[in-house]
Amino acid sequence: MTIEIRPGRDSDLDALKAVDSYLAAGHPERAEEIARWLRDDEAYVALEDGQPCAYAALGESQFGRPFIHMLMVAEPSRGRGIGDRLVAHLEDRVEGPELWTSTNLSNQRMQRLLASRGYQLTGFIENLDPGDPELFFFKRLGRGSGASE
Ligand SMILES: CC(C)(COP(=O)(O)OP(=O)(O)OC[C@H]1O[C@@H](n2cnc3c(N)ncnc32)[C@H](O)[C@@H]1OP(=O)(O)O)[C@@H](O)C(=O)NCCC(=O)NCCS
Repeated sequence: MTIEIRPGRDSDLDALKAVDSYLAAGHPERAEEIARWLRDDEAYVALEDGQPCAYAALGESQFGRPFIHMLMVAEPSRGRGIGDRLVAHLEDRVEGPELWTSTNLSNQRMQRLLASRGYQLTGFIENLDPGDPELFFFKRLGRGSGASE
């Protein structure tokens, strides 16, 4: 398999919608989020043999820290290291000293991926998804300056 990762383009919209299992599960609002990530140059696309098979959205948190808003691998492409490679790519793109993300407590697979890449649990927020807290993680990238004011 040949995996290439590149910035997303507006013309990727339909392909990224096809990759997204949350959209397919009946959450049409995700289509607008993908369009916004593409429009804001926050989307990165993984292509397997030239075909989009995954995407990630890299923006800022409400605290002004680099933040992975979404990591989505097409169901048939999961479990082959593509999510790991996308996160590694985002880490290379970030210029500051750290990268943040979050996922639900129930999302064991994402938590294993983050742990294997050295992310630390740093807190959680209740009451977003009922009964399924949102866990926040960050990784010190070992470069750049300290925290912003
Ligand atoms: C969570 C998610 C992004 C992980 O992506 P992925 O590409 O499947 O992740 P990886 O392949 O890097 O790792 C998944 C597993 O495959 C294993 N793996 C990685 N490369 C492998 C390879 N070449 N051969 C066999 N197994 C491999 C990993 O060790 C890992 O195993 P584990 O789950 O038992 O720890 C994906 O499941 C997904 O898109 N889920 C829906 C959206 C979501 O939940 N996103 C996260 C919140 S934003």
